[in-house]
Amino acid sequence: MRSLIMGMASTVLAFGLMGCTNPSASQAQTPNPQVVQTETSPAKQNTDKTATDKDVKAAPANREKSAQKSIVVYYSRTGENYSVGNITVGNTAKVAQEIAKQTGADMYEIKPVKPYPAEYKKCTEVAQQEKEDNARPQIATTVEHFEQYSTVYLGYPNWWGDMPMIVYTFIESQNFDGKTVIPFVTHEGSGLSGTPQKLRKALPKATVTDGIAITGSTAQNKPDEVTKKVSELIKQAPKD
Ligand SMILES: Cc1cc2nc3c(=O)[nH]c(=O)nc-3n(C[C@H](O)[C@H](O)[C@H](O)COP(=O)(O)O)c2cc1C
Repeated sequence: MRSLIMGMASTVLAFGLMGCTNPSASQAQTPNPQVVQTETSPAKQNTDKTATDKDVKAAPANREKSAQKSIVVYYSRTGENYSVGNITVGNTAKVAQEIAKQTGADMYEIKPVKPYPAEYKKCTEVAQQEKEDNARPQIATTVEHFEQYSTVYLGYPNWWGDMPMIVYTFIESQNFDGKTVIPFVTHEGSGLSGTPQKLRKALPKATVTDGIAITGSTAQNKPDEVTKKVSELIKQAPKD
């Protein structure tokens, strides 16, 4: 298994690591994390951008509050993990929880209609195939009133030197225009792998910050380090 992950890490070395922060910006809100998602049947799921925008516009308007609101959106997998054994809370989820704790942001978990295999090697194979196919796996959950958020902390594990394809499904199904996107990734050696640049390309009307990378074992087992890293990350958010 070690050789598999080393192979992945070398595959993505060319992307280089990103981890700069913007110390001039700061954000601190009262911790009040709320989960804002509903389960959606696959039949009802909507990944079509136009139709989704329509849904968003039809939602009760909350625009007065939009200047300040933040949300933590993340995908994270449980089950057999490369470095931290069998986990019931994913590595990226751990970081997401800390961001919500420090900022008071709402939380939304991207859940796939078809869960990824709990077995690590099988999951790497499925993920590799999805990447080769440039797939857009369906999401089982719907974020509520995405239009009200001006800052989106977007978290994902590094999969094959990229974001999991389901994260592309999410970003393509929502309107990010004018929002600030703050990426955070957990990984086992590949860091951010240039994913902020990929987000900038996919979301040209959003401001995507440089983000932060945290190893899976740190995320899972070193809460103090996570707290410190997250307190740096949230400085990338725009000032109120
Ligand atoms: C399908 C798959 C592909 C992965 N590819 C990479 C990779 O290319 N580089 C890397 O550093 N880690 C890779 N990893 C390790 C994960 O990024 C790491 O374990 C991460 O912390 C998992 O986060 P999660 O628990 O939130 O899902 C991969 C893991 C999986 C399951």
